[in-house]
Amino acid sequence: VPLRAFNTFGIEATARRLVRVRSARDVRLVVDHPEWGRSPKFILGGGSNVLFTRDIDDAVVVKTEIRGLRVLEDDARSTLIEVGAGEPWHDVVIWALEQGFAGLENLALIPGTAGAAPVQNIGAYGLELSDRLESVDVVDLVTGRSATLPAAHCRLGYRDSIFKRELAGKSVITAIRLRLPKPWAPVAGYADVARWLQREQISDPSPHDVFKAVCAIRTSKLPDPAQLGNAGSFFKNPVVNRTIRNEILEEHPDIVSYPLDDGTYKLAAAWMIAACGWKGQTLGRAGVHEQQPLVLVNRGGATGANVLELARAVQDSVEQKFGLRLEPEPVIL
Ligand code: EPU
Repeated sequence: VPLRAFNTFGIEATARRLVRVRSARDVRLVVDHPEWGRSPKFILGGGSNVLFTRDIDDAVVVKTEIRGLRVLEDDARSTLIEVGAGEPWHDVVIWALEQGFAGLENLALIPGTAGAAPVQNIGAYGLELSDRLESVDVVDLVTGRSATLPAAHCRLGYRDSIFKRELAGKSVITAIRLRLPKPWAPVAGYADVARWLQREQISDPSPHDVFKAVCAIRTSKLPDPAQLGNAGSFFKNPVVNRTIRNEILEEHPDIVSYPLDDGTYKLAAAWMIAACGWKGQTLGRAGVHEQQPLVLVNRGGATGANVLELARAVQDSVEQKFGLRLEPEPVIL
């Protein structure tokens, strides 16, 4: 099965076996299957956070296409919604807004499915999924048993969760629940968002204003995977302690960094990559995006190995200049 249409990088790779599941019951059928049940599994959502560097011959690729959007509770304090893992994330944001349930708008236009959202704890413009996630339904890939994991058990961190670690390949996310608190208050402190609202002379933004701001900012900076293959940010922003940050600051006084609540600092990897001269560069068929150097792109016909080679070259230069090795963000297979 060609996987090109199933990964936003647009990499040509194939899977020997690919199963589309439309319900938790389908997942159990895969687990109970005499041949597939025993094979390792690779779970594919929207394919927007994965880099294929080889064909998938050993694992069964399980593509989640489980739909469903419903309101479970709606009272004066919050709204609880349940979303099938295969729903495209951006459609969930729009659906919620249309129903009058605000609180997801900062996460507009993030590619991928709802089921993939907790895996990397998607986050943007001052909001992370962990701020809204209530629980996650999973089916165990060995026993076929269903379970509900409360968000507190998902070990959600910056672009990280239990699903990227202990549970990787061990369970499939079939549904997620999101709690949207009331009354709604805008999350509009992120510099780009604040600037956009100011430019539009909006001082008391509605959920729709924040939605529009986020869509406008993302569209201006981030390449559309339909036009230029990519998987969003290819690297995480490194988080360092005060001592290391000050050491780097001494040599590179202009470096962009943000203090976090626990006294550590998040360094802007985009700034560091740009400082190494990589902005807009191309190596083979892979490139560093002009507007957002944290994003690696497929300039046309790139292989996973091309992208990986570029990623390593970027990591090497950043390490030489700043003494830090950037960590890739997507799942590399
Ligand atoms: N910057 C530069 N040079 C550039 C571009 C950006 O110095 O050429 C600086 C900016 O000045 C800014 C900083 O880099 O201070 C950060 O830029 P941006 O606001 O775009 O955020 P980011 O840290 O690069 C993160 C997420 C994005 C998310 C944005 C907005 C990660 C790995 N990435 O990017 O998430 O959309 O913040 O919140 O944390 C993704 O994960 O795929 C993703 C796109």
